[in-house]
Formats: sequence, C-alpha cells, structure tokens
Amino acid sequence: NPEQGKAEFDLIAQEGTTEFFNGKESDTYGYNGNYLGPVIRVRNGDDVKVNVKNELSDATTVHWHGLEVDGTEDGGPHSGIESGETWDPEFPIEQPAATLWYHPHLLHKTGEQVYKGLAGMFIIEDDISDSLNIPKEYGENDIPLIVQDKQFSSDGTFEYNLNRHDIMMGLQGDTVLVNGAVNPYLEVPQGKVRLRVLNGSNARTYNFKLSNDQKFHQIASDGGFLEQPAEMTNVVLSSAERAEIIVDFSEFEEGDTLELTDQGTPFMSFRVTGEEGHQADLPGQLTTIEEINPSEAVRTREFVFQGMGRNVNINGKQMDINRIDEVISLNETEIWEITNEAGGMMGGMGGNGGMIHPFHAHGVQFQVLDRDGNPPPPNETGWKDTILVSPGEKVRVIATFEHPGVFMYHCHILEHEDAGMMGQFEVE
Ligand code: C2O
Ligand code: CU
Ligand code: CU
Repeated sequence: NPEQGKAEFDLIAQEGTTEFFNGKESDTYGYNGNYLGPVIRVRNGDDVKVNVKNELSDATTVHWHGLEVDGTEDGGPHSGIESGETWDPEFPIEQPAATLWYHPHLLHKTGEQVYKGLAGMFIIEDDISDSLNIPKEYGENDIPLIVQDKQFSSDGTFEYNLNRHDIMMGLQGDTVLVNGAVNPYLEVPQGKVRLRVLNGSNARTYNFKLSNDQKFHQIASDGGFLEQPAEMTNVVLSSAERAEIIVDFSEFEEGDTLELTDQGTPFMSFRVTGEEGHQADLPGQLTTIEEINPSEAVRTREFVFQGMGRNVNINGKQMDINRIDEVISLNETEIWEITNEAGGMMGGMGGNGGMIHPFHAHGVQFQVLDRDGNPPPPNETGWKDTILVSPGEKVRVIATFEHPGVFMYHCHILEHEDAGMMGQFEVE
C-alpha cells in the first residue's frame, strides 16, 4: 500500500517484437513490455513521480495527454530523452476523475513511435468517481479499450512506412486492434459494463456502434464526467479523443454475444457470462461542471487549419521549435476559434471532400462553446482536450490557462503533426 497521496511509476520505453497473427512477429515498441504500456492509475490530489527510462535506440519523450501540468512536466518535444537516458517528472494531479493517456511526442517522430506501440492509459479517480453508483470494478466491469488501426503486410507484420496517401490522410490501416489484439473478445457479466474507449490511432476517426444498434450511455468525455449521462446509439471519436460509455448486458442470456463495430464492421466481441453484474440505474447527475462564462474571456484567438499533404499548417505556419506562436497570460481565460479550411484528396482540387482535423492543446481542458454557431451535442458539454473539426467547420472553445510553460497545439492526425501542423503557446 503506497504512501497516501503519493504515486510513483516506472516506465521503460523498449523495443521488442509482437505476434499479432500466428507465427508472425512485428518489430514493436512498448513501455515495460513489447507493445503499449501499463495503465497508470492515480487520484486527484496525488503527487506523482514517473521514472522514465529510454531503452529505445532512438530518442523519445513521454507526453501526458490531457493532464493539466506545467510545461516542464508536459513531455512535449522540448523534453527529449536520448537513448539510454532517463527523465523523472514530478507533478501534482489537480483535475477531476478522467481517462487520459500518455504517448511519445518527439518532433517529427510522434507518428512512428505511437504506431510502433508507445501509448498507455492514464486514469484519474477522485471522490466523485468513488461515490457514484456506476460500474467501477477495474478489469471486471470497468474496462480500458485502446483502439488502434494497423496496415499489415501480406506476411502478417506491420512497419511504419508512409506512402503518398498516408502523408495526405494520415496512416490508416485496414485492421483494428483493441489493446494490441486483433479481433478480441471480452467476457462480460449480465449487467452494466463501463468501457473507457481511447482512439489511440494515428489518424483514423471511428464511428462506434453496437452490432444490434442497442443504445448506450456516454458518461465521460476527454476530461472527465459529463453532468448527465448522454444516451446515444453511436459515438464518433477522432484521433486521441476518449469516451467512457456504459453498455447494458442485463437483457442478455449466458452465451450471447454482441459486437462493437466501426461503421458497422465488427472488431471486438462481448460474450455474456452467467454472472450477475451491475444492475443499478445510472445516476441522473454525475457531476457538476462550472460553465466558463464567455464574458470572462480576455480575447479570442484564431487557429486555421490549412494546406494538405506536406504543406499542412496552422495559420499559414508550420511548426518551428524555436518560435513561440502565441503568448497567454497565466490564469487568463480565452476563447479559441478553430477553423478547418484545409483541403483533402479532393479539397485541393476545388472539390468539397476535405478532411477532418482533430485540434488538441496541451496542459489544459476546454469547454466547447459552439460548432458553427450551434450548441455542442450533449456528449461535448463536458471537458475536452481534443476536438474534431470537420471540413469547413468553425468550433469555438473556452479555457482558463492555469499552468505556466511552453505547450503545443496541433492536429492529432500524427502524420499531420509530424509534417508541421503544430504550433507552440507559452503561458507566463
Ligand atoms: Cu496526444 Cu500533443 O498530444
Ligand atoms: Cu497532448
Ligand atoms: Cu490534420
């Protein structure tokens, strides 16, 4: 039993091989293993220390996606860890219960390192998550699902090689993995099950549904609980977004199966056991979220996604690690207006087939004010750190910047980020 309020973790970034198909070994990366990393679980109020060791032959960084920490602990491209070196960030947890994640952020190499397997979940609990009558038995009815796609070669292995299409659209594979497994199944009790779904893919956007079109409830978005559970039949997650959803298996018989699908294509199944599960109705109120009043904002800053392929940029600029693009005063509230003007396969040719760009900013959680002037859907009324912005769309978000330092904002299609669709803001 660790000391109250303290949490310490070791993460070793290492190279290995992983067998995704029988007898076929791919070269992969992992933390403390061959592929992906351990789930880090902390509490709000904890003082956390992580001992990161880089045993890769390449440099790396470890970024805490969604965590509200100072720039020096954020693990962005300035926090490079050379091969054989260590990095020991320490930070307090000062935010509500949420499903966050961690992944490398090395300049121009984030896509490659994540694709090879460097990613893990970072779960915060607090008094509210403890007290809610929701499924919370970790591994039993509270299940982390890291969803990623891979492009396997005919020999059953994968590599990170970008063709022209990948440079344009981001690397999108034809096989969906869950927690590193192809076509996995999960045994579930006859009751409510909480799935913490992370889109850990480099580029792909998913439209998740159950194979019987059964409704489910989303209870949390990127930065924590929604005020009320949102009933839905599908949830769209762009790269890096998370959703905690509650699926009810109460009506199923022992031996029944249900599939989780993307655009109707199954990629994992649930097998119902005879065990009785969590039956209680979901609470009508999960938490309270104080709405940030737009009148508190000292300014509106504009971010425009432009260009395509190797020319992707924000506000006409590509990432320059020696340039700070935006300076923000500590503790001030701002509205950020994000517009997707960028083309896609057709967009560049004057068509209207542009592509989505998920906008992400480090060190902060924001609230969505509106999408093209319309209020956000119920599942976007909580805290968010990554926002899908459709072609031609304008999304306004509001945030208070409570942590000093240099942080990134970028498109979370990792091939776009690596190509330069990223900028830096400094909070001081
Ligand atoms: Cu998921 Cu810049 O990060
Ligand atoms: Cu991040
Ligand atoms: Cu993009």
